[in-house]
Amino acid sequence: MQSAKLQQQDPDVFGLIESEEQKQQNKLSMIPSENFASPAVRAALGSVFVNKYAEGYAGKRYYEGNQFTDKLELLCIERMKQVFNLPADWHVNVQPLAGANANLAVYNSLLKPGDTILSMYLPDGGHLSHGWSFPEKEEGGLEAGADDQVYLGGSRKVSIVSKIFNVVQYKVDPKTELFDYAEIRKIAQQYKPQMIISGGTSYPREINYVELASIAKEVGALYMSDVAHEAGLIAAGANKSPVGLADVVTFTTHKTLRGPRGAAIMCRGDLAEKIDFGVFPGLQGGPFEHTIAALTVCLKEAMEPGFKVYAHQVVKNAQRLALGFVKKGYKVVSGGTDKHLVLLDMRKQGFSGRNPAKALDRAGIILNRNSVPHETGSPMNPSGIRMGSPVLTTRGMKEPEMDMIVEWFDRVIKLVAPFANLKTAEFMEATKGITELDDIAAEVKALCAKFPLEF
Ligand SMILES: Cc1ncc(COP(=O)(O)O)c(C=O)c1O
Repeated sequence: MQSAKLQQQDPDVFGLIESEEQKQQNKLSMIPSENFASPAVRAALGSVFVNKYAEGYAGKRYYEGNQFTDKLELLCIERMKQVFNLPADWHVNVQPLAGANANLAVYNSLLKPGDTILSMYLPDGGHLSHGWSFPEKEEGGLEAGADDQVYLGGSRKVSIVSKIFNVVQYKVDPKTELFDYAEIRKIAQQYKPQMIISGGTSYPREINYVELASIAKEVGALYMSDVAHEAGLIAAGANKSPVGLADVVTFTTHKTLRGPRGAAIMCRGDLAEKIDFGVFPGLQGGPFEHTIAALTVCLKEAMEPGFKVYAHQVVKNAQRLALGFVKKGYKVVSGGTDKHLVLLDMRKQGFSGRNPAKALDRAGIILNRNSVPHETGSPMNPSGIRMGSPVLTTRGMKEPEMDMIVEWFDRVIKLVAPFANLKTAEFMEATKGITELDDIAAEVKALCAKFPLEF
């Protein structure tokens, strides 16, 4: 529907879309799991494929009328193979509706209830879909100060994955904030998992896929690499690829890959049948063919030379942000980044990430509070701030703009530091009169106007 028709039909939703557009245009979106999909990707997403039911796979559908969905899905798979340079015997499934579903489908395909999964500790940057539980007494808080590099969880099973499987988690080394692969090897030998998982939401360094594949092999486990965050960087060669090392690779399509919200699974050919069955009929109903249409467009974009340049600039921009923060005396987790995200531990400033993130939003910089290694806060009030460069880079911003952002960030933190430990409602009240935050928002808006987004 064209926007004039939408405006006429539903002015409420039209108004909300307009407001969201204005916000995205005038503020800096720095949540690392977000990006800005192109008009072509969004046109395909809003196409008539939204109307089609296509349970099953190409040539084996349960409903008629799938001539074009079959062609579309096969084209998507073909492009995926090219973009990720898949070995000839690897297989792709583009039907998972989201990243969490893709992961669940893999477990559904390859594990039995009660099997052991060894995955990354959630507060160190792992993902809920790799399992999460905690002891009753923690009341939603994290394990304050535990030095152990292994986490066995507790009776409060937060994620369905922890309800079905026995989840053991490995942490980063508390000093280096990096993975210690010798330690992970020992944990794997002790707990003998059926599956080892890597990948997460806030580990700023590249993962050693060679080491994890060899650990998995040694203990007879399958290795699933979740590259939700890094997929675009891997497609462009800006980060290393787990393809051919891991048994299964899962990822979301809307982060660094810059496609629609969705996900995909790539796997060794001998696992193909199990994986497909685990997605449908094992977990999902009809695939979102409009999403697959948009993903197919995004993969064409990812094959263009400009995408390689983009992905390398994403990394350069994040590294420039990290360097800027180090120079200003912030504690950058692990000392820097290899990819699109930067994690700051705000305990050095004497407070958590929650209130500063709110002040930064008011100043036009949208990012998120986040847990950090050796977390002592709670999930609602964690110690860190996480930010990323994908959207900034899509807008065409480069190193000089990253330096400006570090300056603005630092100004905001200094303005609100005296109030940062208040309860959030009190913080909002106490900082209401700091009009310099609004001045910064105006400066941010002026920069955004020089790097407009194409709606
Ligand atoms: C590593 C990782 N896996 C899985 C997911 C889940 O993706 P979705 O939100 O599409 O379910 C995310 C989302 O942030 C993620 O970062």
